[in-house]
Amino acid sequence: MQSKLSALALFLATTSAWTPYTRDLVNAASTKRWLPSADKIRGVNLGSQFIIEPWMATDEWAGMGCGGRNDEWTCVEALGQDAADEAFRKHWDTWTTREDIDLIASLGLNTIRIPVGFWIREDLVNDGEHYPRGGLEFLDRLVGWAKDAGLYVIMDLHGGPGSQTPNQQFTGHGVDYPEFYNQENYERALKFLEWMADRIHTNQAYYNVGMLQVMNEPVHSSEYPSEAADMIAKFYPQAYERIRAAEAKLNVADADRLHIQYMGTAWGSGDPTSSLPSTEGTAFDDHRYYRWDPSVERSKSGYINAACNDQREDGIIVGEWSLAVAEDVENNDEFSIRNASQEQIEWYRGWWAAQVQAFERSGGWVFWTWKCNWIGGFDEWRWCYKSAVAAGAIPRDAGSAAEISPCQ
Ligand SMILES: *[C@@H]1O[C@H](CO)[C@@H](O)[C@H](O)[C@H]1NC(C)=O
Repeated sequence: MQSKLSALALFLATTSAWTPYTRDLVNAASTKRWLPSADKIRGVNLGSQFIIEPWMATDEWAGMGCGGRNDEWTCVEALGQDAADEAFRKHWDTWTTREDIDLIASLGLNTIRIPVGFWIREDLVNDGEHYPRGGLEFLDRLVGWAKDAGLYVIMDLHGGPGSQTPNQQFTGHGVDYPEFYNQENYERALKFLEWMADRIHTNQAYYNVGMLQVMNEPVHSSEYPSEAADMIAKFYPQAYERIRAAEAKLNVADADRLHIQYMGTAWGSGDPTSSLPSTEGTAFDDHRYYRWDPSVERSKSGYINAACNDQREDGIIVGEWSLAVAEDVENNDEFSIRNASQEQIEWYRGWWAAQVQAFERSGGWVFWTWKCNWIGGFDEWRWCYKSAVAAGAIPRDAGSAAEISPCQ
């Protein structure tokens, strides 16, 4: 039987000449909101496209006039709104290009995950908050390129109102206390989600967006028990209901409804399903960074064994992972990638393959990230898929893990 993935590719190929978007045409495609079944999710994150993380885009950030600023908020505040909008516009226009999207597709990848901040819907930003304006037209353009290239898209609410986790650049604003966990900020996130669901279903460029993630990396129960519990009890079911209500309003056919994605139980905020009205059309996300897992032995064999024996939750998508090893060993002789020998590069290829195999025992994977611009003063390809392919540390065919894997 033909996989849903190739059915989609075929559908897109045979309808590439279509011009006007109509709801009927979309509804005619029963596979519109496909999720690969035979084919696993194989993807890359477009990190730092719409939420810049200076740690992984050092020169880019300095070139925007933001050098020394921690996050988007503090840079916008420092530059002033108009100058910041201008600087960010240039970044959005050039960080991820159509050539990047075509290259991603040519590497055997089938998915991109796009992290966005709630502020891309500008009327949700309160007075006194500092976020760049004007990103939306570039998001529209980017998902259009993904459609043309046949890439599935996970739209990821990555920066929440008030910041959903403390002291993280990826929220857009590093704060000491995460202010997301109250109904006022839930409501802003819900408005974002229903608006995005509407846009996905009514704007032709969003044709390949099949999954909407309601909140990236919220707080852990171990550190913020009441905040995490409150989110799971209130925001999670509200997100489900508001997205489905937005779809019902548009008479979206069942087969075309979005997958609504939550961080899975392994993330540590609790069981995401415990208050959901339904789990139909849901999906779950697991971020697996061996770098930050103290139970993994920090040696080459330790990392390989951990990956070869890993078993993530059934069906879960590992939405973030990398080739980075623990900070205290990453630059020693065993792991350094500065002027790396061929043998060293081969080890990283093997570790890539071992992780890919592990994550494909579940729903598949999305590497963090596609592109970087200097980490620690050099091309740190353990975080950057594009550079890792150029360095030979990731193969040109994302489907070739079995041939490379060191696992028994
Ligand atoms: C590679 O070696 C050259 C010459 O010794 C050195 O200048 C350069 O900084 C090294 N590159 C990295 C990434 O360490």
